[in-house]
Amino acid sequence: MTGARCTGVDLSPVSLDIARELADRAGQAIRYVEANVLEAAAAVGEQVDLVYTSTGTICWVQDLWTWGRQVAALLRPGGTFFFRDSHPSANSLADHEPRLLAPGYRYFPLPAGQALTYADGMTYTDGDRSLITQPRNYEWPHSVSEVLMALVRAGLVIIEVDEQDDLPWPLHPAMTAEGEAYVLPAPWREQVPMAWSVVARKPASADLPGERARSGGNRAPGRAESCARSGRVMRPVGESRAPGRGESCARSGRVVRSVR
Ligand SMILES: C[S@@+](CC[C@H](N)C(=O)[O-])C[C@H]1O[C@@H](n2cnc3c(N)ncnc32)[C@H](O)[C@@H]1O
Repeated sequence: MTGARCTGVDLSPVSLDIARELADRAGQAIRYVEANVLEAAAAVGEQVDLVYTSTGTICWVQDLWTWGRQVAALLRPGGTFFFRDSHPSANSLADHEPRLLAPGYRYFPLPAGQALTYADGMTYTDGDRSLITQPRNYEWPHSVSEVLMALVRAGLVIIEVDEQDDLPWPLHPAMTAEGEAYVLPAPWREQVPMAWSVVARKPASADLPGERARSGGNRAPGRAESCARSGRVMRPVGESRAPGRGESCARSGRVVRSVR
């Protein structure tokens, strides 16, 4: 990116090493900071014009209210946030059977203290699979309203919301490569959004909400009814575990567990 100073944040030193290597190869001077995104503002230590999060980021974060406040704290007044990730509806699709396009996982946020968990010995990158020493994954589903409200409650103004039919990885096993992206076959491609993006802005004279943004856990306030579903086991429809699944469905077999 010519003319801009860039900072990348990730909690994995291995991911950061690879990012540094790629930046070197591209001839870009990028600062990388090893930090949890939930503490990114302090770790980066300065406000910026643009915060960008790429695909596959918020599913690893439980507390989206803190995430939204960190984005807002990182932006200078008038700064812009650009978000793109897999669509919350697509994340809830069963991912064990190419001929089935149906809900298989929870769409709505989990009650605080619970996670979708599964074992996966494969890397989502093109890297060496034998390097996976900790196959246990923990994910948190985030709905459209939860993401938008996390930003709004942090004081940001939503400028644009868009939905797309492509992703950089085959989230569903029926997806096939099209250029550098993956898409569903017709007619599903026109029926189900696979990705979405949001542009939000921090008001020029920002008056950020403080603790009132935090309503507890990773859930929106006033959503007590969804607690009634806590503890339900989430499995792909009609199956407890995808046998011999391919590389494309790395998340099969997610179940809800309590986490500390
Ligand atoms: C699926 S990858 C994202 C890939 C990236 N968007 C891309 O397009 O190449 C998820 C990344 O998020 C990082 N990560 C997960 N939880 C995090 C957290 N709480 N704080 C910072 N980074 C986190 C992981 O270390 C990993 O590098």
